[in-house]
Amino acid sequence: ESLRSRNTLGIDASAAAYAEVATSQELGSALDVARAEGLSVLPLGEGSNIVLAGPVPALVLRQLRADTEVIATADDDVVLRVSAGHDWHALVASSLERGLYGLENLALIPGTVGAAPIQNIGAYGVEFAQFAVAVHAVEAATGTPLELSAQECQFAYRDSIFKGELCDRVVITAVDLRLSTRPHPEYSYPALAVEFSARGVPPPQPRNIFDAVVNLRRHKLPDPAEEPNCGSFFKNPIVAPEKAAELVGEYPGLPQYLQADGRIKLAAAWLIERAGWKGERRGPVGIHPGHALVLVNYGGGSGADVLHLADAVVESVHAKFGVTLEMEPRVYGGAA
Ligand code: EPU
Repeated sequence: ESLRSRNTLGIDASAAAYAEVATSQELGSALDVARAEGLSVLPLGEGSNIVLAGPVPALVLRQLRADTEVIATADDDVVLRVSAGHDWHALVASSLERGLYGLENLALIPGTVGAAPIQNIGAYGVEFAQFAVAVHAVEAATGTPLELSAQECQFAYRDSIFKGELCDRVVITAVDLRLSTRPHPEYSYPALAVEFSARGVPPPQPRNIFDAVVNLRRHKLPDPAEEPNCGSFFKNPIVAPEKAAELVGEYPGLPQYLQADGRIKLAAAWLIERAGWKGERRGPVGIHPGHALVLVNYGGGSGADVLHLADAVVESVHAKFGVTLEMEPRVYGGAA
């Protein structure tokens, strides 16, 4: 089974087996098959955060179930249970439509609901973890259902237990999210603040924030359907305040974001652009000319092409700034 149309970088790689499941019974049977054939299980959403480095020796699993259900209400709060196969942006749009607020800053993030907790998706000052009540999963090796509280998920910037201790061991089947019937507009992120903090501008409604985020993303980030990519290719590095101060001394324009723990998050895109990579190509792959954090497969690039370019970027950013960038997408297949 070729995975070419199942990863947004458009890399051609095969999977040992592939299954689509719509119910928990079908999921259970697929896990039985994988076990019988000695295959590991790789749940795949839209494939918008992966690099396929070679053939994938696993049963690739796509969950089709995409329903939502209100499981609790209290005062202004509504807890929604959403199945893993639901499209993320469709959830953001439909909850806004129903008057359930909170997710509007996370509009237009590609991928499925089941993938959202893994990297704790975040954008424009908001992240998945703020809404998470629980994550439901099934242990791949045994078929045993698990429920993790938000605390147990160990959410952090682009990180969770699903990238750590539980990496590749569970299939996320649903998430419980706490939304609010009362708007809590969040527009402190610089790109939103310039639009909504001006004097005389009335405070934005969730719909205004949704529209602004959709606009920003459409302008800044290439559409994977036209220029195959997997969003931010590197995490924004978090450094000690001394390191940030040293860099700012040398590069006064360096964007810096103070973290709750006192460390400083830097903008990987800024570092990559100043290292001279914006718009550069290496064979079939390159760094997008509009946003330096996006790596694009312009046609026929392999996982190895992508990883070579990524290595070269990491090396040159390290040589220039002494900062080590970490890849954001997960690598599967080949010698990962
Ligand atoms: N910048 C440059 N050159 C560029 C692009 C940006 O110097 O080519 C500078 C900007 O001027 C700005 C800073 O870098 O000062 C940050 O840029 P931006 O606001 O575009 O956000 P980002 O830090 O690059 C992060 C997330 C995005 C998310 C945006 C908005 C990560 C790894 N990426 O990007 O998430 O949409 O903030 O909140 O944290 C993703 O994870 O796939 C993703 C797209």
